Amino acid sequence: MLQTSRLILRQWTDHDLVQFAQLNADPEVMQYFPAPLSGAESNAFANTIRSLIEQRGWGLWAVEVPGQAAFIGFVGLHIPANDLPCSPCVEIGWRLAKAHWGRGYASEAAEAALAYAFGELGLDEVVSFTAVINKPSEAVMRKIGMANAQQNFAHPRVEVDSPLREHVLYKIHRKEWELHLDSSA
Ligand SMILES: CC(C)(COP(=O)(O)OP(=O)(O)OC[C@H]1O[C@@H](n2cnc3c(N)ncnc32)[C@H](O)[C@@H]1OP(=O)(O)O)[C@@H](O)C(=O)NCCC(=O)NCCS
Repeated sequence: MLQTSRLILRQWTDHDLVQFAQLNADPEVMQYFPAPLSGAESNAFANTIRSLIEQRGWGLWAVEVPGQAAFIGFVGLHIPANDLPCSPCVEIGWRLAKAHWGRGYASEAAEAALAYAFGELGLDEVVSFTAVINKPSEAVMRKIGMANAQQNFAHPRVEVDSPLREHVLYKIHRKEWELHLDSSA
């Protein structure tokens, strides 16, 4: 479990599944993905994430706002499919329910996940990627000190003529993270 000034990043519970299905069914939350998820797809995704955290001790953690919201979405670390051009790599990612956007929660949780990646996991680099049109997500990447690697790529599991196919790749190296920490202290 990770803790920030306002948030807890933790392993998933069965109680999270209903709200996760709601946010995955929300067309606005899912506007930069090929389609919203059905309840069954959402549950399968949550169970995969949960078992990866169980195996590795880290992953796409469930995010809680103590005393206010038991579950607002996920933020954390993931090893993406090995057919992506950045692979092998560890990515940082996020997906929050709309009611909780615009409060700095994504970047606050992501800062804690990055600290875990460079601290506990001892990684040298963390990446993030999203559809080029997903400006809110790119803003989170910049906010946490990541830089555009100028290595856009076509996501192999998005249809060729989709506006979601071209992806932007952001990276942060351990040294850049240390500088970012110093500059935001
Ligand atoms: C992307 C997402 C997690 C952002 O969550 P959030 O909690 O609102 O983000 P934060 O409040 O930490 O904002 C971080 C920065 O992004 C900016 N930002 C947030 N939403 C934005 C938007 N809609 N448009 C432009 N910038 C935006 C914020 O202004 C902030 O920068 P600033 O502090 O310099 O102003 C949220 O919009 C989301 O869950 N989207 C749907 C899922 C998704 O697309 N995930 C990424 C897939 S790769």
